[in-house]
Formats: sequence, C-alpha cells, structure tokens
Amino acid sequence: MAVYALWNNKGGVGKSYLTFQVACEYALSHRNEKVLVIDLCPQANASSMLLGGIINGEKHLEEISGKSPKRTIAGYIEERIVSPYLSPKKGASFVLQVHPFNKYVPDNLYLVVGDEALEVQTSRVAKATNPGPTDAWRLVHGWISDLISDIRESWNVKNCTVFIDCNPSFSIYTELAMSASDRLIIPFSADGSSKRAVRAVLSLLYGVNRIKGTEQSEFFLNSTKFRMALPKIYAYVGNRLTQMNLGAASAFKTVVNEIGKEIWAVWQKNPNHFAIHPGGTPPPRTAVEFRKMFQAEINDANTASVVSGGLGIPISILPAGRHALAGRYSTVNQTQLNKQKPNLKKFVATIE
Ligand SMILES: Nc1ncnc2c1ncn2[C@@H]1O[C@H](COP(=O)(O)OP(=O)(O)OP(=O)(O)O)[C@@H](O)[C@H]1O
Ligand SMILES: [Mg+2]
Repeated sequence: MAVYALWNNKGGVGKSYLTFQVACEYALSHRNEKVLVIDLCPQANASSMLLGGIINGEKHLEEISGKSPKRTIAGYIEERIVSPYLSPKKGASFVLQVHPFNKYVPDNLYLVVGDEALEVQTSRVAKATNPGPTDAWRLVHGWISDLISDIRESWNVKNCTVFIDCNPSFSIYTELAMSASDRLIIPFSADGSSKRAVRAVLSLLYGVNRIKGTEQSEFFLNSTKFRMALPKIYAYVGNRLTQMNLGAASAFKTVVNEIGKEIWAVWQKNPNHFAIHPGGTPPPRTAVEFRKMFQAEINDANTASVVSGGLGIPISILPAGRHALAGRYSTVNQTQLNKQKPNLKKFVATIE
C-alpha cells in the first residue's frame, strides 16, 4: 500500500482519466480496503468523473464547493494557510465517500474533492514557504502528507492506498503531491513531446539534466537540502494507444518504442529513481525485463471511454449497449470495452 501520484508535465495524457479508472478498478479488486483519491488539480476532472460525470458529477462538484465550510481540497488548503507550520489535524473532515454521490463507484472509495479555488490560493501557499521558520519550505511541503495521516488516523489504519491526480504544470500543488507520494505513475501519449516530457520529469524532480550547468529546480534543491524523500518511478503508462488499423498501429508502436528507448536509457543511468516491483524481485537486467516491470499500455476505448468518463461509470463495470449521455444516446460496443478493460486490469494488478 503506497501513495501514488499520477503526473506528467505534459497536459492531456490521461492523468485524470487514469486516476478515475485505476482508483475504481483498484477499489473494486480490494473491497476490504479503503482507497483514497486526492484531487490536486484545479480542473477537478477526476472528481467530476468520480462524482458522476459531466451532468451529475459537475452538479455535485458545484454543490460541494459552494458550501461553507468547504469540504474540498481548497477547504483544507485554506485551513493550512491559516496554520502553515502546525497541523490542526483536521484533514479527515475534508474527505467524502463517493458512493452516496455516484452508485457506480464502489463504497470503499473516498475522495478529497478537487476545487478550482486552488488557483487563487496559489500565491498565498507560496508565501507560506517564505518568510517563516527556517524549515518553512519543508513544513509546507508536508501539508498533503499531513492530510493523508489525518485521514488514515480517522480510519484507524496505518496504511492505505492513495492516488493523487496532479496538475500538468510543476505548480506548488504538484510539488506538494510529489513530496507526499512514494511512487510515480507517468502517463504518456505516443508523440514526440512525450519523449521530451520524460526528460522534463527527471530534471524537475531529481535534478537529472542532460546539459551541464542547467539551473536546478527549486523543488530539487530544497528536497535535497531538507533531505526529503522523493517518489520513485513506478510505471510509465502509454495511454490512448490506438489499434484502429494496421498502419496506425505500427506507427504508434514505432513512437512508443522510441519513448521506451528513452525510458530504458533513463533507467540505465538512474536506477535509484525507480521502484522495483513486485517487492523482492531482482532489478531488471534486460530491456525486455525492464519493459515488463515499468511500462504499461492502455488502449483507447473510443466511445466506451467517453461514456465511462461522461457518466462516471468505471469502464470495468460499464455494460455494452446504448447509454444516454447529456440527452443523446451513444452506443458502447463490446469490442471497445475489450480493448481497454484487460489493459486496465493487468496494470492495476501490478499496484501493490
Ligand atoms: N485510454 C483512453 N481512451 C480513450 N480516451 C481517453 C483515454 N485516456 C484519456 N482519454 C481522454 O483523453 C482526454 C484527456 O485525458 P485527461 O483529461 O485524463 O488528461 P490529463 O493528463 O489529466 O489532462 P490535463 O493535463 O489537462 O490535466 C479526456 O477527454 C479523456 O477522457
Ligand atoms: Mg487532468
């Protein structure tokens, strides 16, 4: 059981979609565990899907974030802006069980709801890191760890699996997520900029730069200064891979292989940044073993994905057939479901 952050500083690669699907699938396959999602993205896309999709989810989001006091991530952040260096230990009051809002989500899944108000809080969060006590940066970067501890304590468990959806940019909230997480899941898409993003993640997080003399990120410098643990890379997930036709499939494969080579090179130079799994396994010795351990693939399920996210029905329990989405009918084919469901199951089975 660990804290997983889904992050890539490239936008639109499926961080939120995978947070929704992976967390639901994990909760479905671990019915006796409480599973927590923290939505640290101001767009709150993962929350919207979990709470019921584009109509119901959005309605619930508005209701929840419109209440006072706010039981959202922004409510928690507000409390910490007031008490930045001493945790009020009230994090558990910001978590909601999802099932009462969306019956398709298993009742062991809990959420700290995303909130667009995070954007306007950004500068005040940054101010809390400086000036202040000498370890202000470290204390502020512990806010999400504090939140998780409060929730675990209220559940009377030492551990639980947590998934954090992140903003693409390396904002203060992404930094807080990185400081709180043990493991990193990096979704990527089959294009050239994903290859660049693989390098950007390494540079921002671990200070691994290709060009000597490149300025290091403040996050890397401060994490080193305060000896804070950084998440280890758990998986690169090639997402939205298409199998439409042979030509497209082979073009996709070429690009994915290129990115695979990049990731393999990263491993060879920086194996310490990776989380070997399952526990007790020896490190991979070949590119094939490496790929098996650290690379996953999730196909594009076309209409099935749109309906799943749009209605907030996890793809693993979405039935084939006609579905009403925002007043119009869409048909989900079994073949579409078959493209993604097995990938998702296989990937979630690797999560410890
Ligand atoms: N495997 C998939 N199959 C089909 N559609 C997908 C898949 N993964 C993601 N999508 C769709 O792609 C779009 C982008 O995904 P998503 O919003 O999850 O990306 P993101 O990385 O969270 O974006 P952002 O950087 O803006 O937060 C969404 O419309 C989502 O429903
Ligand atoms: Mg997102």
